[in-house]
Amino acid sequence: MSQPIEKATGIVPGKDIEKQREYSTLVAELVSMRYSEKPKAFVHTYGCQGNVADGERIEGMLVSMGYELISDVDQADLILFNTCAIREHAEDRLYGNVGALKVLKKSKPGLKIVLCGCMMQQKHAAEKIKKSYPFVDIVFGTHALYRFPEMLYINLSSGKKVFDITDEPGKIAEDLPIHRDSKFKAWLPIMYGCNNFCSYCVVPYVRGRERSRAPQVIIDEMKELVKQGYKDITLLGQNVNSYGKGTDYNFSRLLKELNSIEGDFLIRFMTSHPKDCTFELLDTMSQCDKVAGHLHLPFQSGNNRVLKEMNRGYTREKYLELLEYAYKVMPDLSVTADVIVGFPGETYEEFLDTVSLVRQAGFTSMYTFIYSSRPGTKAAEMPDPVSRDEKGKWFSELLKVQEDVADKRTSAMVGRTFRVLCESVNKNGLIEGRTQGNIIIEFPADENLIGSFANVKVTESLIWILKGELQ
Ligand code: 5AD
Ligand code: SF4
Repeated sequence: MSQPIEKATGIVPGKDIEKQREYSTLVAELVSMRYSEKPKAFVHTYGCQGNVADGERIEGMLVSMGYELISDVDQADLILFNTCAIREHAEDRLYGNVGALKVLKKSKPGLKIVLCGCMMQQKHAAEKIKKSYPFVDIVFGTHALYRFPEMLYINLSSGKKVFDITDEPGKIAEDLPIHRDSKFKAWLPIMYGCNNFCSYCVVPYVRGRERSRAPQVIIDEMKELVKQGYKDITLLGQNVNSYGKGTDYNFSRLLKELNSIEGDFLIRFMTSHPKDCTFELLDTMSQCDKVAGHLHLPFQSGNNRVLKEMNRGYTREKYLELLEYAYKVMPDLSVTADVIVGFPGETYEEFLDTVSLVRQAGFTSMYTFIYSSRPGTKAAEMPDPVSRDEKGKWFSELLKVQEDVADKRTSAMVGRTFRVLCESVNKNGLIEGRTQGNIIIEFPADENLIGSFANVKVTESLIWILKGELQ
């Protein structure tokens, strides 16, 4: 028998959250005595939307602790990098950016430097920071995020460095303060962690096991966001389709309940895993008027041997069957995907299967990555004979094919009218927004429209961006 979802996952006890609130007050008192005006905090988040959502909680905690958030790093009294570990490039960039702070810290000894997030959850990275970057004050991993006030208090009051990278299965911390970056677009995490252990991926090691937030907590947060005027709300999880797995509740049911909340808003979600993407979910999407006609469904490779080595749990045929059904029930659906080029042992012939899948799939856009070896993963132990240069050529070949596919998709939109959320004024002085399918569109209109929906007719397609006119 499956258990009720409310009992399924570990929640950080309320008293522990309360204790952090007390630390937060202590920090606020301490900094109000130490600084003549509000101390300034610079926060930078790397990586995926899950990290961005964590970053908004970190910023919320900093505001509660009496800090003012700023965007000029040179003015900061506290600099925090919320790190990413998904590819080596992200890690290299972080080391470069932290190294560059050494001079700043020398000229400003009271400056606090804080590193957190996925990269810091890995022992080897935290050790390297300890050894080679001794001017860093606080380091904590993803599981310790809610304890940031306590760590900052210890450091501020004693001057001691704080390292907290405890390896835990991961719990859910509710009721943290949030400082949202936008007034009309919001991130709403519905689950954390991942159980899939795709052989190339570091996420299950740094984010812990899958755990779903209780439906009522999500529904209440969504209602509150809608009340505050949010128009575009994205449900987040490494694998949203496995929301509630092993319980009496699933993602389709959650979508239906959220869809029934009153108001004019759009529900998005990401990321979906093809292994857990069901026809039921696709039917639900097609029936829910507030759920955007957009599915981000990473396929990673179009070759069955490579998919097996990646431990993805589906075949090329299963993936294409899902797409076929999805387009049948939602003819206007925009599908986007992630793909990895040059997985260890992948041959050029096998890569060509990825190319042919891209030709068949009709993606509106695609995030293409060259394989990056992650220490501790299974793929990192596999022989990887193809050179980086060669993989670079495959990468370019694939991009050209996707450009052609996207061009066909967006050209077919010319002459049609779409409902667009107006987001900003771009460098051409035009209003820029996104269609439900997440395609960028620019058009002349009044700035007052920012944050609201408008009907826009597509007049021209420039492959990745559409031009339009207000209707
Ligand atoms: N190398 C390259 N790309 C990766 N991704 C995850 N791990 C790796 C890796 N080791 C990509 C996958 C995933 C996206 C978020 O990042 O395509 O879907
Ligand atoms: Fe990584 Fe696979 Fe989990 Fe996605 S589903 S986070 S690629 S292990």
